[in-house]
Amino acid sequence: MSDTFTLTIDGKEIQAKPGQTILQAAEDAGVYIPRLCAMKDLVPHGSCRVCTVMVNGRPQAACTQPAAAGMIVESETESVQAVRRDIVDMLFVEGNHFCMFCEKSGNCELQGMAYRFGITAPRFPFLFPDRDVDASHPDIFIDRNRCILCGRCVRASRDLDGKHVFEFVGRGHEKCVAVNAEARLADTDIDGNDKALDVCPVGALLRKRVGFSTPVGKRLYDHKPIGSDIEHAGQE
Ligand code: FES
Repeated sequence: MSDTFTLTIDGKEIQAKPGQTILQAAEDAGVYIPRLCAMKDLVPHGSCRVCTVMVNGRPQAACTQPAAAGMIVESETESVQAVRRDIVDMLFVEGNHFCMFCEKSGNCELQGMAYRFGITAPRFPFLFPDRDVDASHPDIFIDRNRCILCGRCVRASRDLDGKHVFEFVGRGHEKCVAVNAEARLADTDIDGNDKALDVCPVGALLRKRVGFSTPVGKRLYDHKPIGSDIEHAGQE
């Protein structure tokens, strides 16, 4: 007897395994659910809510909600997409995201998500926060103006690198990523090979001297929308 069970996403029946979240089960079935804080190999954080789906009529985060037999999940409906679009819109105005000057442009998941949702200009007023940039480390810098508080660097440093270089401090609009040192990134034990440097979805945590190395036209999301690798996998 198979231990898989069936749930429904947008009217399509998919199989899930015990212990899978809705997002994992959907991904295995080639159904892309947008996400910004979730990432393979990192424990789910459930903070960005871009993966919001309706489960039996109630909103849930697909990255943390366990899949269950008989669930009716709505993902691509107009109302769910509108919620996700608003969340992405708010992420843009809460920080300082000047895509045209950012070395992550074309490879940025936030920008990719905006393209996917057809966002060309935010609907909400810009807040233009004044946040710290830390360029003290010889090989790495943090620009908190671009941080969306997804916590990927916190989890990757802790769980993949075995360090605790990053952590959140503050609350509300003052919440930010701090480093495990008196003040500067240069005083932590991070180094240029840390996996934490590979997980930032935006241009907040970057290696120095490699910016703009991929020409326009060859960047990750120049030709295919974010998520198309998963959708494509599902068609094979
Ligand atoms: Fe699920 Fe961020 S991807 S809350």
